[in-house]
Amino acid sequence: AHFDADKLPLSGKKVLITAGPTRERIDPVRYVSNYSTGKMGYSLAEAALKMGAEVTLVSGPVTVTAPPNARLISVESASEMYEAVMAEMGSANIIIGTAAVADYKPAEAATQKIKKQDDDMSLAMTRTKDILAEAGKRKSGQILVGFAAETNNVEEYAKKKLVKKNADMIVANDVMKEGAGFGTDTNIVTLYKKDGTSVELPLMSKLQTAEAILHEVARMEAIGAN
Ligand code: CTP
Ligand code: CA
Repeated sequence: AHFDADKLPLSGKKVLITAGPTRERIDPVRYVSNYSTGKMGYSLAEAALKMGAEVTLVSGPVTVTAPPNARLISVESASEMYEAVMAEMGSANIIIGTAAVADYKPAEAATQKIKKQDDDMSLAMTRTKDILAEAGKRKSGQILVGFAAETNNVEEYAKKKLVKKNADMIVANDVMKEGAGFGTDTNIVTLYKKDGTSVELPLMSKLQTAEAILHEVARMEAIGAN
């Protein structure tokens, strides 16, 4: 048999990654968002490129720089991210959702700056669409990977997300652990897979964590575990 010594683990594969936070507009000068920095998603993009993949990065507003060889689609809100992912997912082999997508957005974005009043104010919020769950409904052959940042009951919640979103893998991290979670350069994650098995990864840099996740995904792709 022909032995292809330089074939990289993801060569010929198209990887679609969501990253960063979303911003949900309140009025022309204000928004609701979260502490996501995009580091995990951008590390995955970098690692996937190194492993030979073609990478499309759908990113909310972040300060980290995208790898020059990634195709970057910059978005702001959850609904813009949803539209971008739906448009791109058909041509992907692997879809990885690392974005911290807002679960709620202001029911109505004011067109003019909201003036303060003397009393308290409250903001009506409405649910956003679940991008990963919708990708899970529409997928045909793609490997779908989601993330779950939890503060408690990590395994239980991660396994629920695996089923609810029809994902092939959920990367769970306990954000209460030192060295894991938002803004850090390191992560400690467990991979929960559709076949019921799990892989516990040690504390590593986000880039090393990304490489380990993608090696697992490449193995799943190779055996058609989706
Ligand atoms: N996700 C998404 N679209 C949303 C919300 C979440 O694509 N509107 C994705 C995230 O990118 C992540 C996964 O779903 O890959 C899990 O996100 P998480 O916030 O942990 O889960 P939720 O389903 O939103 O549940 P909860 O926030 O209540 O834990
Ligand atoms: Ca959420």
